[in-house]
This record gives sequence, C-alpha cells and structure tokens, in this order.
Amino acid sequence: MTHDRPAFVLSDAAMREFHRLVERYPTKESALMPAMWLIQDQEGHIPPEAVDWLVEQLGVSHSRVWELMSFYTMFRSEPQPEHVLQVCHNISCHIVGARSILDHLQHRLGIGVGERTPDGKFALEGVECLAACGMGPALQLGKHFYEHLTPEKVDRILESLRNGNIPRADTDRELAE
Ligand code: FES
Repeated sequence: MTHDRPAFVLSDAAMREFHRLVERYPTKESALMPAMWLIQDQEGHIPPEAVDWLVEQLGVSHSRVWELMSFYTMFRSEPQPEHVLQVCHNISCHIVGARSILDHLQHRLGIGVGERTPDGKFALEGVECLAACGMGPALQLGKHFYEHLTPEKVDRILESLRNGNIPRADTDRELAE
C-alpha cells in the first residue's frame, strides 16, 4: 500500500534493540508489542508512518497493529502530554479509595479527569482494571505501575515527575504478548 507520508526512522540504538527483539522470538509477529513500545518510547506515540514501518518490518497487517493500539490503553496514536497518569477506577480499586486518589490528583494538577495541564506536562485519566486488583488503588504511567496509592505517595510521584525523574515503580511491565 502506498502512503503519502514521511518514512519512519528508529534511532540507531532503538534499531539495535529492535533486531535483538526480532531474534528473541520464534516469529517476527511476536515482537510486535515490544516493538510498539520502542516506537512509543522514542516518539511519545505511534504515528501512522510507524504503523506502516511495523507492517513492513514484521509482516503483520495494519489492522493487527490498530487492534492492539485500540485494545491496550497505554498505546497512543496521537501526540501525548509528557506524563499520562492513568488511575484505575474499577471496583476493587474503588473500594480501597481510588476516588479519593483521583480527587487528590485533580486538586494537585488543577485539571479534571480526561484533561491535560496547560503546560502539556500531564494528562489525567480514569481507566478500567489494570490487573493489580489486590494492590489498589493503582496507577499506570507508561510501563510503570504504582500500587497501594495514598495522597502522600501521589505527591511523591508528582514531585519526582516535576523534577524530571520517573519515580521508582512498584512494578515495571514489559507487556509483551
Ligand atoms: S480493579 Fe483496579 S487494578 Fe483491577
């Protein structure tokens, strides 16, 4: 398929990692999700030209890539704020205080759920189950997961991010298939 789009280019370091991933899996398609992470780590989202690139490199269909992007809330097709804070508001987290965590974040960031800060640094989202039900309230920041949240812990996370550091996570997930 021909598209009138600029070609996508991975950095040399990311390209080396991409080749390492492809060799690690029994089929090229199995490297799709980790390759999507590589692209998102570089670009902040997965632009259409990168979808074309994945199709070409891994022999997958466009619909397969879009399917994963629409199913997994951490993958983004549009440019995003620097930090997208996704707080689980599903039942188990709700019971242990997710609502008060969301309220606290809204207060600290000065935005509502589903909004972005004017400086483009933060977005706040309420999301469905993050598969950390016994460790709620839970928050996802890209591949990083923060569990048993309290207002104090949220403040430490925000302070680190504002200082340009990703706070130490309780869990980092590769999220490979
Ligand atoms: S209900 Fe929050 S992680 Fe499952």
